[in-house]
Amino acid sequence: MALTPKITKAVIPAAGLGTRFLPATKAMPKEMLPVVDKPAIQYVVAEAVNAGLNDVLMITGRSKRALEDHFDRVPSLEASLEAKGDVKKLRSVQEATELGDIHYVRQRDPRGLGHAVLCAKQHVGQEPFAVLLGDDLIDSRDELLSLMVETQQKTGGSVIALMEVEPEQISAYGCADVSTVEGEDYVKVNALVEKPSVEEAPSNLAIIGRYLLHPRVFEVLEHTAPGRGGEIQLTDALQELAVGSDEGSGVHAVVFRGRRYDTGDKLSYLQANVTLAVENEELGAGMKTWLRTFVANLED
Ligand code: UTP
Repeated sequence: MALTPKITKAVIPAAGLGTRFLPATKAMPKEMLPVVDKPAIQYVVAEAVNAGLNDVLMITGRSKRALEDHFDRVPSLEASLEAKGDVKKLRSVQEATELGDIHYVRQRDPRGLGHAVLCAKQHVGQEPFAVLLGDDLIDSRDELLSLMVETQQKTGGSVIALMEVEPEQISAYGCADVSTVEGEDYVKVNALVEKPSVEEAPSNLAIIGRYLLHPRVFEVLEHTAPGRGGEIQLTDALQELAVGSDEGSGVHAVVFRGRRYDTGDKLSYLQANVTLAVENEELGAGMKTWLRTFVANLED
């Protein structure tokens, strides 16, 4: 099989309504909620850039200004920090503006993740590309994207990321029916279903927010009818690619066993903050001391 072109473009959908995190997300995208000291989306952009995906397209919706402003320079703030000689804060402010080449496109109506991805069609063109969900954090100590890129180079088609969840949690995710591929770490995806009931779920393998997609997904998304929740589901388009035999079809998956946080979910968001604060150079020691006392005094 011919090598597929190198992947350089990342699409980051951040136009959802964030209803699970209301009222915090009433006037602010959930992707802007801080995790320790940076908005969640900054971790996601950094992950893309660190994997060599320097061309980032963000799909924004209402309240997109906060997102654009965060990745833009604020000369007056920088000048003020420089005048005070506060190099550390100056560097932290500049960090977000030095991450790759960020472009924006607006999804006028939040008609679902599949529709958000379709908004990237013109920017992406005819190359395979990555999709990283703006509210899904993969711990930077655990490898995922690079493994997916390696897999995609071998298999062509599209590659998704799966994670084992407790069987009763599967109804909150897209779910995959897979089979092993001899001698390989990745698996072949036979079928996908969005948010199945526990009884109907073909496995406990949940789709998580990292995808490497063949550009044929755009053709499929153009005729994908609204599915679960009345939204155009990326899972439905991927199901068509998984069972198809045309050029660009075929879906494989990497099963991720590392640390992942869904910052659009209140409990997972709080867990991300505690976990990453404990690891933080500046805050870690103080956080651990406080946590130990707090847990020791915790009553049921
Ligand atoms: P979610 O399903 O987690 O987003 O989509 P949501 O609809 O905002 O969630 P809740 O259930 O209302 O809290 C996963 C990702 O896809 C983006 C979201 O911003 C999130 O990053 N998304 C979703 C879009 O960009 N557009 C959409 O129409 C839907």
